[in-house]
Amino acid sequence: MKKVAVVGFGFMGMTHAGNILKNDKLELVAIVDTDVEGIAKKISSGEGNFSAGSIDPGQLRNVNKYKTLTDCIANEEMDAVHICVHTDLHFSLAREAMTAGLNVFLEKPISLELEHGEELIGLANNKGLVFMVGHVLRFMSPYEKLKRWTDRKEYGALNFLSMSRFSGVPAWGQWKEKQADFGSSGGALFDLLIHDIDFVHYLLGPPDKIESTYLPGALSAYDYVSAFWSYSDRSLKVKLEGGNTFHSNFPFQAGYMANFERASVLYTTLKPEVIHVSDHNENMEIDAEDGSDGFYNEIDYFYRCLELKIKPEKCMPESSLDTIRICYEHLR
Ligand SMILES: NC(=O)c1ccc[n+]([C@@H]2O[C@H](COP(=O)([O-])OP(=O)(O)OC[C@H]3O[C@@H](n4cnc5c(N)ncnc54)[C@H](O)[C@@H]3O)[C@@H](O)[C@H]2O)c1
Repeated sequence: MKKVAVVGFGFMGMTHAGNILKNDKLELVAIVDTDVEGIAKKISSGEGNFSAGSIDPGQLRNVNKYKTLTDCIANEEMDAVHICVHTDLHFSLAREAMTAGLNVFLEKPISLELEHGEELIGLANNKGLVFMVGHVLRFMSPYEKLKRWTDRKEYGALNFLSMSRFSGVPAWGQWKEKQADFGSSGGALFDLLIHDIDFVHYLLGPPDKIESTYLPGALSAYDYVSAFWSYSDRSLKVKLEGGNTFHSNFPFQAGYMANFERASVLYTTLKPEVIHVSDHNENMEIDAEDGSDGFYNEIDYFYRCLELKIKPEKCMPESSLDTIRICYEHLR
């Protein structure tokens, strides 16, 4: 059993805790949150842009609660921590955990400062720690299928890919308290569209050219982003679009449309059970499998790497940092 703590028990911290509790190779020993009194209140609150799953409060009875990571490190024996705080705290808390010799699962994005990301990668390498950033699309079944079809050319070569992700302005947790400070999340580009930017980076490599436009919103100067990626060695074009410029209760929706030589495919979280695969003769609905399993899968993968003492090749922190570099290229 690996002993694990979750740092930041907001929407994502609860998602991590729920998936750690489901995994019989893991023991959740501690939760750290500056609002330690709020932990019980948050359980089963269902906050966030998709279901965080409900946690039975009884499952947390024997889990120790701390206000600071420093106290938690001083009092607990742990193998790893999951850092699920807002982006402006990723670097300091991940560095503190690594300095104490702990393996780190860090929520996306790695950091908005490239040099901070480099320092974390260097620290993890020097200490021989497993360090992974939670780019969950890499572990979600509908996106894994898209990767398999593209890599194996099952429907021929990919000609056009459109990725999108829209949500209302977040109205849960720290998000709603920090309006003035929203620059710390990086806005929709670094917080929301980064999912798709990272996935296309993983799927096809970095683009040679990015043409982008963006619009300001409640959170940052780029709360809506629309971009075209192109590759000099392929005729393939990629369109990425998304943002959180809408009202808070606007339904979250993300998905992809891909045009391969022999078929076109469509996946949308508005109908998450299926992926449409169409050609000129028919439209088939194939099982998308469980898109939300990505949160379990990414955690399970991280601990398999830890068990085997190997690097997380499917989601290397160097690749996460390159994704940040690509995000910045959208602002040129
Ligand atoms: N992978 C995904 O799909 C996904 C989705 C949403 C958010 N995120 C990421 O998760 C992170 C957190 O977002 P969220 O929506 O859960 O935020 P949130 O506001 O719901 O939760 C943040 C929590 O951190 C706590 N906190 C603040 N400072 C702390 C500190 N110093 N030590 C310990 N706890 C502290 C707050 O009290 C709060 O409970 C962000 O980095 C975001 O990018 C990822």
